[in-house]
Amino acid sequence: MAAKIFYGTLCHSTADDPMVILEDHILGVKNGKIQLVKDSSYLDEALSELGLQEKDVKYLKKGKFLMPGLIDTHIHASQYVYTGTAMELHLLDWLKNYTYPIEANFEDLKFAEDVYQKAVKRVLKNGTTTACYFATIHVDATLKLCDIVENAGQRAYIGKVNMDAYSPHYYVETTQESKEETEKFVTKILKKNNPLIKPVITPRFAPNCTLELSKYLGHLAKQYDLPIQSHISETTDEVEWVKELFPGSKHYADVYDQCNLLTDKTVMAHGVYLSDEELKLFKSTGTGISHCPNSNLSLRSGMMDARRVLDMGVKLGLGTDVSGGYHPSMLDAIRTAVQVSNVISLDMHTDYKSLSHREAFKLATLGGSEVLGLSDKTGNFEVGKEFDALLVDTTVVEGPVDIFKRDSTDDIIQKFLFLGDDRNIQEVYVAGKQVL
Ligand code: GUN
Ligand code: ZN
Repeated sequence: MAAKIFYGTLCHSTADDPMVILEDHILGVKNGKIQLVKDSSYLDEALSELGLQEKDVKYLKKGKFLMPGLIDTHIHASQYVYTGTAMELHLLDWLKNYTYPIEANFEDLKFAEDVYQKAVKRVLKNGTTTACYFATIHVDATLKLCDIVENAGQRAYIGKVNMDAYSPHYYVETTQESKEETEKFVTKILKKNNPLIKPVITPRFAPNCTLELSKYLGHLAKQYDLPIQSHISETTDEVEWVKELFPGSKHYADVYDQCNLLTDKTVMAHGVYLSDEELKLFKSTGTGISHCPNSNLSLRSGMMDARRVLDMGVKLGLGTDVSGGYHPSMLDAIRTAVQVSNVISLDMHTDYKSLSHREAFKLATLGGSEVLGLSDKTGNFEVGKEFDALLVDTTVVEGPVDIFKRDSTDDIIQKFLFLGDDRNIQEVYVAGKQVL
């Protein structure tokens, strides 16, 4: 994208304020980066600073605003194929009966290509500028996902899944295969040298990996300085199973910690049943959590107390967890996080504060960037960061949002978060390039 100045309402999060609304402001972009954010009275100065002319200014009328791109910290691109179906089973039976049989099909590259094309297109259309993807155990299909993400211009972490234990005979790797294929995958992606795409080390969850494999993956992440993603404490049955499988471990988190898989670049999905001791370990290692409220309700796993995690100082982002979660939009994750917190608050003391929509907005943007270790590049409109943004239009004809004269800018933004959808997302930018 050529250099440009946006003029109108900006909405983003900062370290101190989950939602800052800047009306009558300008945001200047050049070389893919945010060059300035100022009051609109500085327009002339900004134009000369960036070497631009009046025609390079994009004016946003009432009802339109610019916000940071949404960050999905946990999504299974491979599971997009059955999103919105198959939610009547609890996690462990759901994995056995739906997930493993369906993921096994990704050995077929044509099938994989079709699913991944559709998944990435859908996710981007819904404003997810950064996604942390699980693929499947198959290297070729996962490389195909990388090509598709690259062509779409999305920012992403992409993981080839590791599974060498308690997996069905038709969807499993030997420990040796898993090690070799993962290193092959990692080196191929790193060779591409695409600054937007990174491999992420992806042990599916503790039960699906031998300690030998998990330890190797911890070592590989360190060797190549890579992020790590997995699942933890999503259901009580899973927690009990992990206790049986790893009797020598203090708790679930300890299994990962013994393998050096809890780092300041690790994101663990769910964490519904983590103890205080485990959360303290997350804090001390810098491990983040991806809160996936739709999935937790759809599979009846439980309700994660986001307030408790935030109060303990653990990094927190939101995830769709497609297809444990049935909705590919991060707007749904924002809404459902608020609703889950509202329900939790019913059983709490009166001064318990449920999650506000402003805080959920932050978790879906700046929070996600912190969890993924990308807060130096994306997550908000700080000068110097790359321009990952959505141009939202709540006034789109026949759209899902109705705006009235009485609505303040605050109301308009809140209406978008609760009622809006992809029809309101008019333009999508990643690293300054318009990708939609
Ligand atoms: N735990 C292990 N694998 C999965 C998965 O694919 N989805 C969810 N929600 N939890 C998991
Ligand atoms: Zn998941």
